Amino acid sequence: MSTSLTLIQGDITEQAVDAVVNAANSSLLGGGGVDGAIHRRGGPEILDECRALRAAQYGRGLPTGQAVATTAGRLPARWVIHTVGPVWAKSEDRSELLASCYRESLRVAGDLGARTVAFPAVSTGVYGWPLADGARTAVATVRAAVAASPDAFDEIRFVVFDDRARETYETALAEEG
Ligand code: AR6
Repeated sequence: MSTSLTLIQGDITEQAVDAVVNAANSSLLGGGGVDGAIHRRGGPEILDECRALRAAQYGRGLPTGQAVATTAGRLPARWVIHTVGPVWAKSEDRSELLASCYRESLRVAGDLGARTVAFPAVSTGVYGWPLADGARTAVATVRAAVAASPDAFDEIRFVVFDDRARETYETALAEEG
């Protein structure tokens, strides 16, 4: 059984998948954008679990490029996988950290037994990453992970908010893998 890579224009909090990925920050204590929407719609349980993770494992915060899971509270998904994207920097290539967010999120999803995973466009909002580059990194990294473990997932879904992001992802998905 192969993995489908799909694209949806919509709200990440509404995805009925096993795991949704949160574009979090190191504090794991919430913020704006995707992070704000997930905590608002998912309810306080998610934040309680994030606080417990901070206390038990990540006293200094979750490092950029890593990922960790909680349950998903009132969201239709079963789990939220929190990952911390890099802030865009002109002077330094941080692409490897962005790729790591996708790889590590899929590793955590695989460990949970999640078969369907939805990703937002990590780092391309508040963190300022150029959308086209973020989309190419997302698609290339997910394709490589799927090629390495072809039976691990049924669907990996990219969820984008607006028309421009949808068109950008369509272009990235149409490029040769
Ligand atoms: N569903 C899908 N996509 C969304 C949604 C949504 N509900 N809301 C925004 N986007 P961002 P980042 C798109 O800023 O750049 C937070 O404060 C948005 O258009 O959520 O990784 C955290 O706490 C953009 O393309 O994440 C961190 O401090 C993409 O999702 C910081 O922002 C990501 O935008 C993380 O910034």
